[in-house]
Amino acid sequence: MKHKVLKDFPDDFFWGASSSAYQCEGASLEDGKGPSCQDVKEVPEGTSDLKVCSDHYHHYKEDIALMAEMGFKSYRFSISWTRILPNGIGEVNPKGIEFYNNLINECLKYNITPIVTMFHFDMPAALDQKGSWSNRESVDWFVNFAKVMFENFGDRVKYWLTINEQNMLTLVGAMIGTLTIPEGCENVQKEVYQQNHHMLVAQAKAMVLCHEMLPNAKIGPAPNISLVYPASCKPADIIAEENFNALRNWLYLDVACKGYYNPIAWAYLVENGWQPSFEDGDEEAFKNAHPDFIGFNYYSTATVEAYDESDTTEAKADQQKGGRTKGFCQSIKNPNLMKSEFGWEIDPIGFRATMRTLYDRYHLPLLVTENGLGAYDTLTEDGKVHDDYRIEYLRKHIEQIREAITDGVDMLGYNPWSAMDLISTHEGMKKRYGLIYVDRDEFDLKTLKRYRKDSFYWYKKVIESNGKDLD
Ligand code: BG6
Repeated sequence: MKHKVLKDFPDDFFWGASSSAYQCEGASLEDGKGPSCQDVKEVPEGTSDLKVCSDHYHHYKEDIALMAEMGFKSYRFSISWTRILPNGIGEVNPKGIEFYNNLINECLKYNITPIVTMFHFDMPAALDQKGSWSNRESVDWFVNFAKVMFENFGDRVKYWLTINEQNMLTLVGAMIGTLTIPEGCENVQKEVYQQNHHMLVAQAKAMVLCHEMLPNAKIGPAPNISLVYPASCKPADIIAEENFNALRNWLYLDVACKGYYNPIAWAYLVENGWQPSFEDGDEEAFKNAHPDFIGFNYYSTATVEAYDESDTTEAKADQQKGGRTKGFCQSIKNPNLMKSEFGWEIDPIGFRATMRTLYDRYHLPLLVTENGLGAYDTLTEDGKVHDDYRIEYLRKHIEQIREAITDGVDMLGYNPWSAMDLISTHEGMKKRYGLIYVDRDEFDLKTLKRYRKDSFYWYKKVIESNGKDLD
């Protein structure tokens, strides 16, 4: 549909950007913070550890001031579980509470709405030792953590996101350094889907608790959604597309928004003997939980074809590069799309299709919690970063939000990845996403000084014009 007249962005649209604690804060064991799985993992070869990152912990005032200069209406960040509860449960760390109070107050000082992710890939190491999400008690651990956050920050934080990219934790946890499987486990996939089930129950209970404790707050999930295309109009490819959409996207959102498992994904789990066991009350927990909106991260679409038994190539999957799901579907390269320098396909029109499908399917307002281009940036001698490639990427995606709004989709905001440069999940500091450049290399911490990239000035104009001026 080509619209003759485009609708405007809503006046209260959340223009902002995103980050996550373990990727930007640094101060990994400072002021009483306990280690998370990210602090004890073996970092991928050739990439930085997570001790200092962008040192946001010590630079947050400067960073928020730069966000305010761009005109941000929102800042999406995550709370590090072990900064608040060093062992994941038990004693609360007052210094951790103080840090997030300061961060939240600093945002509010500039009228920036804090959008808080409760869990972003950083399980407390002490809880990993107790079996991580495999342990049924993980549901209570998470709900307790949620309660501590609601009690301490709920008077000022009105937007909450439960678990960042639970689908990626489940599908590519090993790649992003979050997968912990108890020793001696013989059926890893079954264990992974049991963990996923515990996360779904924990999320449902946290949503109910949020509504009980903070009646004026809103809460929603934050999966990574890539609409899946079929490789062709061959009927078998259509089935493969439906299969992968179910397993990659709808499994997570159907439980969160509709209160039950997606039937296609469930059939796949049963077929393989990987279906999770339910405890009494789980079904009820799913039914009682009602998100107020859907937060979602979008980087690209995925394309699949019917599974080919004779094809034995091993495809290495990450968040956006697909793999093969035996008997179900296999990813292929989409010949119509360009790729980023790091091999992720770029599909702005697919973004519109994703927004339309999500809204059509769940009828909930949508908040873009991530979107962006990972690229090699260069700081010039005169302190500039000419990232026209990033501007181009962001422009094309913002254009599609306006199309989606005109299509009738209820859009709450756009918070691309990332506010400032930070460490990638598995590709280090060199894969930069920020609007703000952070002066450090992979292994050399340099000055950690902040610089405004060209995209910084461009985004400022976009926000000033409420999305009308994208030039
Ligand atoms: C998402 C995550 O998967 O994509 C972020 O929520 C991540 O934590 C972002 O950094 C970009 O991915 P990557 O692998 O390039 O860091």
